[in-house]
Amino acid sequence: MEEKKFNQIGVSFKGSGSYVPDQILTNQKISKKVDTSDEWIKSRTGISERRISSLGDNVTDMGYKAALNAIEKANWDVNTIDLIVLATSTPHDLFGSAPSIQAKLGASNAVAFDLTAACSGFLFALITASQFLKGGNFKRAVVIGADQLSSFVDWNDRRSCILFGDGAGALAIEATNEFDNFIGFNMRTDGERGSFLNLPFKNDRDSIIDNIDFLRGGFSPIQMNGQEVYKFAVKEVPIILKKLLKETNYSSERVDWLVLHQANQRILDSVGDKLKIPREKILSNLEKYGNTSAGTIPLMIDEAIKNNKIKQNDIIATSGFGAGLSWGAALIKWG
Ligand code: ACO
Repeated sequence: MEEKKFNQIGVSFKGSGSYVPDQILTNQKISKKVDTSDEWIKSRTGISERRISSLGDNVTDMGYKAALNAIEKANWDVNTIDLIVLATSTPHDLFGSAPSIQAKLGASNAVAFDLTAACSGFLFALITASQFLKGGNFKRAVVIGADQLSSFVDWNDRRSCILFGDGAGALAIEATNEFDNFIGFNMRTDGERGSFLNLPFKNDRDSIIDNIDFLRGGFSPIQMNGQEVYKFAVKEVPIILKKLLKETNYSSERVDWLVLHQANQRILDSVGDKLKIPREKILSNLEKYGNTSAGTIPLMIDEAIKNNKIKQNDIIATSGFGAGLSWGAALIKWG
């Protein structure tokens, strides 16, 4: 076992970045494709428009731009980065997209890998990277959440296509031996309920040669039981957040910002109500971007920092939830 390189006790948050593609798909435009309306989508979800990737906006491109942004905010030399974790369910290369981001950044001293946990992906990646930093072998990490679900949405299914968009966000985090701004976390999965939301392998059988079959690679579009996912989110997210607050001895009054995975405004409001967190503390940008899967949480944090909402030493309660089923929560202090 390798000796610890650093005697670190905690994690500090140094910078944020984000990127969304230019193409905007409004509710009005979707209404020309499937039988829906701006009024229906807006009232049921809070979403008005979403961004759609085109050539030059794949997960590697988006993740790179978000990461570069975060690194510039942190004022880091790329050669000092030890770790890059990319949370994505839609890599540009199934073997992993994080090393391509590493190469584009020129962060040649870093190790880079992908992590898949759908809409919980960013949170799981942030927790993973933080554990590496607290473990004492790495000093600086960039955690990216990027997804391009537009490539896997069934654009004829009005029950799901209205929800998703493309985008990326990233945070630059650093180990420190003075304090710990990563206050606590919780993570859960329940594969028994996994069938509520899938992006499944196609199982297209083909033959290599006599009597030897193989399954041709490829994925079916997203399949979702919206009502079950909704019920899961409004039940489990408040439970995991309340548990985390209790374990860390924080009351919900001490939370400055609630940053939830941006799935549906009604889910955000319901979770806030159950935690008795007032609406003005619940950050939301899903009106403009819809659900960008692993991208939502860092995209929201970056926007709130740029808008002077999240400030140094603010307490952020965050939760990601989605396919798997998977969900998690983290309590952090910005800075
Ligand atoms: N436009 C118009 N009508 C619609 C649309 C639409 N886009 N979609 C569904 N309907 C109709 C249905 O056909 C149904 O009609 P019926 O009563 O005649 O059968 C009616 O509207 C109600 O449908 P519900 O499914 O009950 O609508 P609901 O209020 O549950 O809203 C929604 C649907 C928005 C999908 C909601 O269930 C939801 O947000 N669920 C959570 C989904 C989610 O967040 N998924 C992502 C998780 S994150 C991840 O890991 C990727």
